[in-house]
Amino acid sequence: MSSKKRIVIIGATSAMAEHCARLWSQKQAVDLVLVGRDAQRLERVASDLRVRSPESGLQTVVAQFLDPAAIDATVGQIFASGGVDIVLIAHGSLPDQADGQENLQACREALEVNGISPVLYAEAFAKRMAKADSGCIALIGSVAGDRGRKSNYIYGAAKGLVTRYAEGLQHRFAGSGVKVVLIKPGPTETPMTSHLKAKGAKLASVESVAGQIVDGVAAGKACIYAPRKWWLIMMVIRHLPAFVFNKINI
Ligand SMILES: NC(=O)c1ccc[n+]([C@@H]2O[C@H](COP(=O)([O-])OP(=O)(O)OC[C@H]3O[C@@H](n4cnc5c(N)ncnc54)[C@H](OP(=O)(O)O)[C@@H]3O)[C@@H](O)[C@H]2O)c1
Repeated sequence: MSSKKRIVIIGATSAMAEHCARLWSQKQAVDLVLVGRDAQRLERVASDLRVRSPESGLQTVVAQFLDPAAIDATVGQIFASGGVDIVLIAHGSLPDQADGQENLQACREALEVNGISPVLYAEAFAKRMAKADSGCIALIGSVAGDRGRKSNYIYGAAKGLVTRYAEGLQHRFAGSGVKVVLIKPGPTETPMTSHLKAKGAKLASVESVAGQIVDGVAAGKACIYAPRKWWLIMMVIRHLPAFVFNKINI
């Protein structure tokens, strides 16, 4: 039996997740299980990590992201080959808000990939970690989930679902050996935001956000705003009265 920490990453081809994997495997040798929807993209991430951390174990798993039975089976197979110390649930996509307002199929897909799918994965890990009374479930939500805004409320609603879900999971596991960490990144430079960067948006570096995620998970924080200033920004936005908020173009 390996004594290395076993870390599973769902949505392992995400830039944020890939940088977290680099940091985890650079601190010490770890056993990484990289889960994604595309074998080639997963292998590209795995090959890079193998070079960076030759002592780390690396496994790739191509999986389904919406089918509950398939998700349960994937997570069951991962546990069949050993316990899990940390799972980082990272996948997501930033939908076009205007498209979602016109096209209900696009709206549904955005809600499913950003809201339902992460919750199904987290539940599949939660029931197995509950039995072991150990493990950490880290979910990437977003500052967008803190208050619905006209510019991205479909994505925000899905991330808000993840927020409320993580709160409940934290309540369920309070005082137990299972930790639940909710990560709320602000706008960060990754492929997801390349169109925003082209428009001149100010974005945090993916390296700094990944650093905060890895440190926050190690500290067992309940909620990580990354960069930290977004805690204050969103606290103000959450508390603005509607008569002020409705006049702001955000
Ligand atoms: N970047 C930001 O500004 C920002 C801000 C707040 C929150 N977030 C959240 O941070 C997390 C990581 O995002 P990122 O910035 O690292 O973006 P990214 O590099 O674009 O990665 C997105 C990830 O989601 C996967 N994905 C996208 N659509 C999918 C689908 N329909 N089914 C399954 N997997 C799908 C992608 O898989 P493929 O490689 O196979 O496409 C990839 O692994 C996401 O949950 C995102 O919502 C990002």
